[in-house]
Formats: sequence, structure tokens, C-alpha cells
Amino acid sequence: MNVLILGGGGREHALAKKISESPLCEKLYIGPGNPGTSEYGENLDLDLLDTSSVARALDDYSIDLAIVGPEQPLVEGLRDALEQMSALENRIFFGPGQSGARLEGSKGFAKDFMRRNGIPTAGAQVFDSTQIELAVAHIRSIDPPFVLKADGLAAGKGVVITSDRVEAEREIRELLGGRFGDSSKTILIEDFLDGREFSVFALTDGHRFVLLPEARDYKRVGDGDTGPNTGGMGSVSPVAFVDDLMREKVLTRIVKPTIEAFEKEKIDYLGFVFFGLIEVSGEPYVIEYNVRMGDPETQSVMMRLESDLLSHMVELGRGEPLSPVRISPRSSATVVLCSEGYPANPRKGDRIEGLHELEGVQIFHSGTRREEGGSIVSWGGRVLSASSTADSLSQALEHCYAAAKHIRFDGMHYRKDIGR
Ligand code: AMP
Ligand code: GLY
Repeated sequence: MNVLILGGGGREHALAKKISESPLCEKLYIGPGNPGTSEYGENLDLDLLDTSSVARALDDYSIDLAIVGPEQPLVEGLRDALEQMSALENRIFFGPGQSGARLEGSKGFAKDFMRRNGIPTAGAQVFDSTQIELAVAHIRSIDPPFVLKADGLAAGKGVVITSDRVEAEREIRELLGGRFGDSSKTILIEDFLDGREFSVFALTDGHRFVLLPEARDYKRVGDGDTGPNTGGMGSVSPVAFVDDLMREKVLTRIVKPTIEAFEKEKIDYLGFVFFGLIEVSGEPYVIEYNVRMGDPETQSVMMRLESDLLSHMVELGRGEPLSPVRISPRSSATVVLCSEGYPANPRKGDRIEGLHELEGVQIFHSGTRREEGGSIVSWGGRVLSASSTADSLSQALEHCYAAAKHIRFDGMHYRKDIGR
């Protein structure tokens, strides 16, 4: 079958590698892809927010199955628009429509969904832009730390956590005043949960699901979890503190009730569900849902997935019996190499050296570009990720860090404490 992966980051590079290994995959396309994905398939010059260009590509390349990497096109209704154009007939489109994508696109919707369905999550109060003084009064009545969240998508910048009441009040005024436009016209003020974060990923058809291995992401830019939040600076899988008991709790209290709720609430859903979780005193809570895979979690997770990702998707998409997921007992790690100024003001165009093959390491491209003449330059905040699988986490990390030492570009920085 012909497969199209939509997106162009490290996540899509890792998906492209995995899908290309499937015996079911005849031709693989990635739109827009990046210089790394072109090793596994043909890159297509696509704008994911331009529905007709996606519809054309589905037709022109006789795509049998498409996978959506990033959230924004899903939240904006790419699936629904393609359905209206009858562009999805006889095709599997792996990514939910707008009704399912609201789980990521509206934190208020997700919070209500969890409350209605008894899924453990932090308590929260919702305020809109007519309720600024009420929100400020609420902050004055509760104890720090304060967790403020823009309701909508805000490119990973929509969550503020502070113990400073004055700052919290200022942030509330700015958020509700429209810092992120419509995305922050509504905010949540959430109870602070003090615990350890990890993530679990499912592929689902809205009724059945298969579970991928859990991972942990390192969100802050600096060692020791300091500095601003990023898209993710590294990941590991498995996660040391997640044992069988915790997996069982996540399965019975979070994953199953979520999928059952899709059925109950008649939410059509074919795609990934990313459960962003936190363990507090031995109990799991949902911090957020995403309706796609994570980046850089995908890189670590795909390297441990032994069964055929494409056949899992096909079975779900066609209603066929599900084959078991096979997961390697080995450990994976991913270290993200970032450009000067990331996350605030990433610089582009630095020439990358040392990109040839290194034993035991897979390099995934996130933000790179091939210049005329063939050299590769940085083209985004997160530039490359070095991933490795080994018998132990420390060995996998050793490989990643050896690669990080080998690769050079001006201003490159990365966290030195992933997995430690
Ligand atoms: P989110 O965008 O909802 O994933 O939030 C970004 C990050 O903020 C999470 O990965 C957590 O580190 C942190 N966070 C979000 N909600 C809470 C909460 N209720 N308590 C503590 N930390 C939180
Ligand atoms: N690494 C977190 C995310 O993809 O949302």
C-alpha cells in the first residue's frame, strides 16, 4: 500500500523509518518531510493547513493510508474537510476529526470530558475574558503554586506555573486580555499536582485500542529541569518508576475509560491518543491529552516497537482482528540538539558537520534543510535528535551523547542530564 505521513519533524522522521520497514508499505511519501525523511520515502511539498493540496496529494499518489503527525491540522478540522470533499473514501486516515481533536484543542473540553467520565485529573476552575476579576479573586483565595492554562493551542507556551501571586495575577490579565488570541480567551486555573510525569500512547479506532510503550519527556530547556519550557529536549523509554502496577492503573482508570467515553459520547476517533500523565503518591492523573504522537517521545518509542506499526493501523482502520503489540525489553533514549536561542528565538542557517553514520545511534532530523550543493543547515529550534536502543538505559545514553559530541553546528546546545 501507499502511505503518506503528514508533518516534517523528528517525530515524522521516526515514523517514516518505522513505516518503511513494514512489508505492507509499497511507496512512502512524507509531506513536507525533511532531509532525513527523504532517506525512507519521497518528500512532497505540502502545506498541511491547505486542505485542497492534501486532498490532491491523496489522489495524485494513490494514498491508501495517511498519518497526521502534528495537532494543528487536526484541531482545525483537516479530517472533516477531507471527508466533505469525499477525499477519504477507501482510504485510512489516521488522525481524529474535530470532535476528537478537541481533547487537545480545548483544555476546558478535555477537563469536562474527564470529569464526566470519572477519569482522574487535577481540579480546575474555568474563567473567560469577562471574568478577569473573578479569576484574580480566585488566585487570592488559593495557595501557590498557581497553574494557569490557556484553553486553546498556544504552541506549547500556554501553561504558566508560578508561586508568585503578583505574577499570576499579571499573567491572568495578559492571557485573558488575548495574549494568544482566541486560544487564551478562556483559561483554566488548575490545582498543582506534585509528582513525576510520564506518557502513554494508544492507537485506537474509538472502540478498540493497542498500547505502545510508555516514555518520559524532558520539557525544560536546562539541566535539572530549569529554564523555559520547550517542545521536549529528550526522552527515554521505558520509565524507571513505571512498574506493572502503575501500568495496570493507567490501563483500567485512564486508557479504557477514555476509549469507552469515545463510544458513549459518539466521538468518532481513528488515530493516536497521547496520555500525558503524572504519578502522585502512587496514583496516576491525566495532565493533558494530545491527539497525536509526541516529539521526541516517538523517536524513543518507535525504536522499542518490534511489531509492525503499519499493520496495527490497518487493522484498526479496517476493523480487522488486532495483532498483539510486541515491545523490546531494551531501553531507548533520545537527546535533542537545539539551535542557538531555542526556545525563545531560535537561529536558522547554521551549517551542520559530523552527520555521518555512528555506530549504535540513529539520527533523526527535526529542523534541518538541505542547501544547494548538499550541505545540511539548521532550520528550526530543535534541529536533530540522537536516539539509541541498548540493553541498558545508560548504554543507550552513552551512544546518544557520543553522537552529540560528534555533531557540530554554531550555537548547538542540548541537555546533559537526559535519563539521569
Ligand atoms: P501541558 O501543556 O498541559 O502538558 O502542561 C505543560 C507542563 O506543565 C506539564 O508537562 C507539566 O510539567 C506542567 N503542568 C501542567 N499541569 C500541571 C498541574 N496541574 N500540576 C503540576 N504541573 C502541571
Ligand atoms: N514532547 C511533548 C509533545 O510532543 O507534546
